[in-house]
Amino acid sequence: MTALLEVDGCTKRFGGLVANHDVTLAIEPGEIVGLIGPNGAGKTTLFNCISGRLHADEGRIRFAGADITRLGADRICHLGVARTWQIVRAFGRMTVLDNVMCGAFGRTNRTSEARVRARRLLDFTGLAGHEPVLAANLTLADKKRLEIARALATQPRLLLLDEAMSGLTPLETAAAVDLVRRIHAELGLAICVVEHVMEVVMPLSHRVVVLDHGEKIAEGEPRDIVRNELVIRAYLGDRYGAGR
Ligand SMILES: Nc1ncnc2c1ncn2[C@@H]1O[C@H](COP(=O)(O)OP(=O)(O)OP(=O)(O)O)[C@@H](O)[C@H]1O
Ligand SMILES: [Mg+2]
Repeated sequence: MTALLEVDGCTKRFGGLVANHDVTLAIEPGEIVGLIGPNGAGKTTLFNCISGRLHADEGRIRFAGADITRLGADRICHLGVARTWQIVRAFGRMTVLDNVMCGAFGRTNRTSEARVRARRLLDFTGLAGHEPVLAANLTLADKKRLEIARALATQPRLLLLDEAMSGLTPLETAAAVDLVRRIHAELGLAICVVEHVMEVVMPLSHRVVVLDHGEKIAEGEPRDIVRNELVIRAYLGDRYGAGR
């Protein structure tokens, strides 16, 4: 029982629709786990249940030994789980610096300390120089960086990235991949990456978990997942699975 995150038999229903059905997975400290699956497979719902945005109907979620199944999002964040959003949720009418300071205020009440931490993370995420810009005026790629910086400002041990690279150009995607690698290497975080771009998620992940229709259909190392018949049929098809 050394896992940082343990999701045990998580089920989440929306009326008659079962968005997550009996999902079990674990993430070890410092591990990068790819979470993949077709549209509507339940990836974001699982992030919502882990981060306290929603609560699972059945099952248990533990983080760093604590039962977080029924905790609110603020408590879970304070324990060390941070996330970004599939549809970016930067505070558009606030500056870039203030956005990241909001994250830092989760750990300190001192404005000067929050500012120092936020500036350091803007440097780290490549947003230095954008401090006074209103978040609404950033490019999509920079908004996604900003969300990552704000999430990091809460000083997490686990970072949940929900399609942090979708909609980006190949160059922007490469920069985002580099950022994820540095978060892992330099900050030592465990990271769960939801992403549809297989060329990104496969090389990045130590382990991949596949959801389909709310159920976990496979789990393993990327090189095994791309050869898994069930996964190829449900999701990968010919575009990535063939010939590997
Ligand atoms: N708040 C909600 N109310 C009702 N149904 C929902 C809600 N959130 C998600 N769903 C449904 O639950 C299922 C899983 O959705 P979810 O957003 O978790 O999928 P996903 O794997 O993240 O998909 P995508 O790759 O398109 O982002 C879908 O059928 C979706 O329509
Ligand atoms: Mg989603």
